[in-house]
Amino acid sequence: MCGIVGYVGPRPSQDILLSGLARLEYRGYDSAGIAVIDGDGQLGLRKRAGKLKVLRDDLVDHPLADGTTGIGHTRWATHGGPTDANAHPHLADEDRLAVIHNGIIENFAELKAELVAEGFTFRSETDTEVAAVLLGREYRATGDLVTAFRAVASRLEGAFTLLAMHRDEPGLVVGARRNSPLVIGLGEGENFLGSDVAAFVEHTRSALAIGQDEIVAITPAGVTVTDFHGEPVEVEPFEVVWDAAAAEKGGWSSFMAKEVSEEPEAVANTVRGRIRDGEVVIPELDGLDSLFAGITRVIVIACGTAAYAGMVGKYALEQWARIPVDVELAHEFRYRDPVIGPDTLVVSISQSGETMDTLMAVKYAREQGARTLSICNTQGATIPRESDAIVYTHAGPEVAVASTKAFVAQITALYLLGLHIGRIRGTLSPADSARSVAELEAVPGKISWVLEKEQAHIAQFSHWMADTQSVLFLGRHVGYPIALEGALKLKEISYIHAEGFAAGELKHGPIALIEPGQPVFVIVPSPRESAELHKKVVSNIQEIRARGARVIAVAEEGDAAVLPFADEVLRIPLAGPLFEPLLAVVPLHIFAMGLATAKGLDVDQPRNLAKSVTVE
Ligand code: AGP
Repeated sequence: MCGIVGYVGPRPSQDILLSGLARLEYRGYDSAGIAVIDGDGQLGLRKRAGKLKVLRDDLVDHPLADGTTGIGHTRWATHGGPTDANAHPHLADEDRLAVIHNGIIENFAELKAELVAEGFTFRSETDTEVAAVLLGREYRATGDLVTAFRAVASRLEGAFTLLAMHRDEPGLVVGARRNSPLVIGLGEGENFLGSDVAAFVEHTRSALAIGQDEIVAITPAGVTVTDFHGEPVEVEPFEVVWDAAAAEKGGWSSFMAKEVSEEPEAVANTVRGRIRDGEVVIPELDGLDSLFAGITRVIVIACGTAAYAGMVGKYALEQWARIPVDVELAHEFRYRDPVIGPDTLVVSISQSGETMDTLMAVKYAREQGARTLSICNTQGATIPRESDAIVYTHAGPEVAVASTKAFVAQITALYLLGLHIGRIRGTLSPADSARSVAELEAVPGKISWVLEKEQAHIAQFSHWMADTQSVLFLGRHVGYPIALEGALKLKEISYIHAEGFAAGELKHGPIALIEPGQPVFVIVPSPRESAELHKKVVSNIQEIRARGARVIAVAEEGDAAVLPFADEVLRIPLAGPLFEPLLAVVPLHIFAMGLATAKGLDVDQPRNLAKSVTVE
């Protein structure tokens, strides 16, 4: 979950490293550091606990000699607290070698014992320093950084992206990856490495993705990629489809505010180019009909918000493709010894495409013979490369840790997939397909309506709730995952207890939580399309109101039944039942942001979290 940047070229590297780290800071912000080989061939290092600003200020107060070869790192602490000593880069080989790392080296303790027994000493508690000292020892023996890397990489267990440079080889940065992200930026007479393309997108949009157990060496003249045995490997070039501006705040108070405002276009861009004559045709799946032939079940695996998107998508996939769909948390699926095989399609959902829990579950599913399809928002990411097929969401870069626009894009991609499979399997009539496509194409405008009509209203009452200690969320059917998502958003950025429940579950225990003044959001089904469920949810509202709850109802325009029982009503436009979740979630995203802002919290970089959880 760390941000990693590497640069070689003709330009001073410090500003390039720092601006790259600024774009990667959402990946981890416990500490930050850079190392540079300066004009005199000296290796300079500066690293500080705290956010990137602390490092920047330190470099202003105490400048570091600049140079054209450099690496930089922003950390989410795994081994050892966020201190200056534990910050990356770590030095070895008498401070002539600098190393940065993203991931977890699971056998670091035994390697450290081996090195201590040989008389090596350590200055930090990190697993990374063990890799650095190991690399330094190998460099002493070989005098070649790539060769040393090969010797070390094959001894490491766990997940790692490592970058290193040595004072004796200026103009060279070497990287190695296993189960952790690393992409290459190709410039003119300069080259870049990064945890994701945000590291270098302001300099180049030409990129290369490298695969598992590969080593990359970048110099100003070029890029060499080999496997851990030294054999050259094929790499896949790609063009970054968004520009640096897209990754900037663009005048918004936070990335989250910007990204919530982009929810309409995230849906529109995910649909774009995938509708032909009223039918869904997904270009990435051209020629892959066989992937769906003979499948008897679908298992959706994901974590956090992505899992809630999967829970919503389940209803549509089952309705349109007439195939059983289960949704599982990737880290539970991975270790429960599931009964899966060639008749199972495992669909992973991941905004970053680097979530280790999800990646490990995908690899496990493939080992068990299942077919795998990745829904992902990040080009060149690891999970799509480990899958049989990919359906990209086109939400654009999502920087805020709290996922919003990617969530609605994930649901959209699942709906497109369900319509696609329904067409292939013949379980969906062209008329039904066209109706659903029309509904999907209308969603962006309806989300915009919610943003325009309700943003101010929600911001207002989220202020009077700034001191609340807990908020509950109720939903039913496709509204239930939205209740879970609303609760998660609130937890992760406002740090108050929030819990989502299936409305029908209330009387089986949770109603005991209701006391006078307890705020409860209720996602109300449409009275037009889901009359039966609507009645039951209105009864639920009466039950909690009778016990003093403060009810905020999310209900469709014109639904008068909720008015006598709700303290606040947030309106969404009319939509088919399967499409309401894409609208009902928007007020909950706005509310979470409003409450966190009212509490003076950092909505983009909430405590203890990182944007991409690349450790299991
Ligand atoms: C969502 O707001 C959280 N940041 C988190 O639950 C996230 O959805 C989860 O870690 C999965 O991330 P991914 O989509 O990148 O795999």
